[in-house]
Amino acid sequence: MPSPQVVILAAGKAERMKSALPKVFFPIAGIPAICHLLRTLNEADLKDVVIVTSPLRKKDLESLIKQENLSLRISFAIQKDPKGTGHALLASKSRWAKGVKPVLVMNGDVPLLNASTLLEMVDTHQNNDASCSVATTSLANPTGYGRIIRNHAGDVIKIVEEQDASPNERENPEVNTGLYVFNSKDLAGSLSRIKPSNKKGEIYLTDVVERLVEDNKRVEAHQFMDGEEFWGMNNREEYAELCRSMQLRINEKHMKEGVSILAPDQAWIDVDVNIAPDVVVYPGVHLSGTTQIERNVTIEPGCIIKDSHLKKGCLIKAGSYIEESEVGVEAQIGPYAHLRPESQVGKRAKVGNFVELKKTKLGDGSKANHLTYLGDAVIGRETNIGAGVITCNYDGGLRYKGKATSRVGDHAFVGSDVQLVAPVTVKDHGYVASGSTITDDVPSYSLAIARGKQVNKKDFIKRLKKRKPKKKGR
Ligand code: UD1
Ligand code: CA
Repeated sequence: MPSPQVVILAAGKAERMKSALPKVFFPIAGIPAICHLLRTLNEADLKDVVIVTSPLRKKDLESLIKQENLSLRISFAIQKDPKGTGHALLASKSRWAKGVKPVLVMNGDVPLLNASTLLEMVDTHQNNDASCSVATTSLANPTGYGRIIRNHAGDVIKIVEEQDASPNERENPEVNTGLYVFNSKDLAGSLSRIKPSNKKGEIYLTDVVERLVEDNKRVEAHQFMDGEEFWGMNNREEYAELCRSMQLRINEKHMKEGVSILAPDQAWIDVDVNIAPDVVVYPGVHLSGTTQIERNVTIEPGCIIKDSHLKKGCLIKAGSYIEESEVGVEAQIGPYAHLRPESQVGKRAKVGNFVELKKTKLGDGSKANHLTYLGDAVIGRETNIGAGVITCNYDGGLRYKGKATSRVGDHAFVGSDVQLVAPVTVKDHGYVASGSTITDDVPSYSLAIARGKQVNKKDFIKRLKKRKPKKKGR
């Protein structure tokens, strides 16, 4: 049998989500829901795919697909005014009606589907030579799903949607998963004859089943034991459940590969994050985007790490926020540190509490331990940055455009409460005294002091206290 033509129905309006965004774009573990489906099709090697979309979203889908590394042949069918799943499938009819390929139809809002399930459906359809094979499952809470109706012999005779089902039919836990394989000719014939099902003029794909049965065509239900992978996302509650289920699946995979995730239901890890064995992830950690984590890294509670690279053995203490940055081997960050984009912390370097780095390189073995802002700075090796140091990298556009660079060499010492007014350089082994405002370069091995000189007035306070106040203070 030729490989099937896949059709993804993705043009719905997501009315129950109450969102301006179509639901196939809702992110799940860091990527839009539909990308999960496309990756699954890629894994199953089901290459020919038509996505039914609204005209407004075609471009967005195209740019999403460009970012994915897929070997699929994807085209689009446009459904202008969404009038139900049958109407959506009709919009793609010209792509499959005349071919001999079976048509595999799936909803775009079912991102947990497994590749093996798709292949099982294709196989089943091939083996039982049916007009339609529909995947079904039994759900503990089938509310909202179409119910599979069978006759006394156990054959499927139709699918009824929740709102059209009798109380008796609603009791039935066996639901339509929205995954089907059709014979293309039979589908084309029956789909064109479906009448609108409700006042809104919606055309239900599910009505095809009854049509086929009336025409004495074979409809086979293939039952799956595990219903979770068929969960759809129709409202925010279902969306949250689905995100959680995907997260547990991702976390389970990491744990099998040697990562300690101390509370798997409280660690949010995007699907493209890479984690080596012997990494420890505490509760309340978010690892997102393309983050890479090498061996023996520990990430304490409440850290958020986006698109960053954490090298071997580094320690990220509680409450730290790291974006688009690199943390070196055995370096320590936090607690409560903020690494903003393009920061690079060297080997065994330390960034302490309430320290912010932006586009800054902190060399191997250097330290900025307390309450500091380093922006657009290049700090050498084994250098100490004292408490409360600030790089003044922006002058409001008076002398230079954008931000200016502060440079501090190797083995230098910048005392506490120093401002480095950029552009400025402290050379190797340079020493800046506490409380200095540095506007000129500091040569190697020099001590720079730029602060008011201290004057001690002997017994001044004693004299002051002896004086009688003249007026009442206000
Ligand atoms: C559908 C099935 C239901 C099944 C459930 C499984 C129908 C009538 N009902 O219900 O039997 O139990 O899936 O999850 O098919 N779409 C379009 N254009 C439209 C309408 C929808 O492209 O005009 C797309 C949506 O974007 C979505 C998919 O079709 O990806 C399914 O639509 P949805 O509204 O979620 O159907 P359900 O009510 O979940
Ligand atoms: Ca749905």
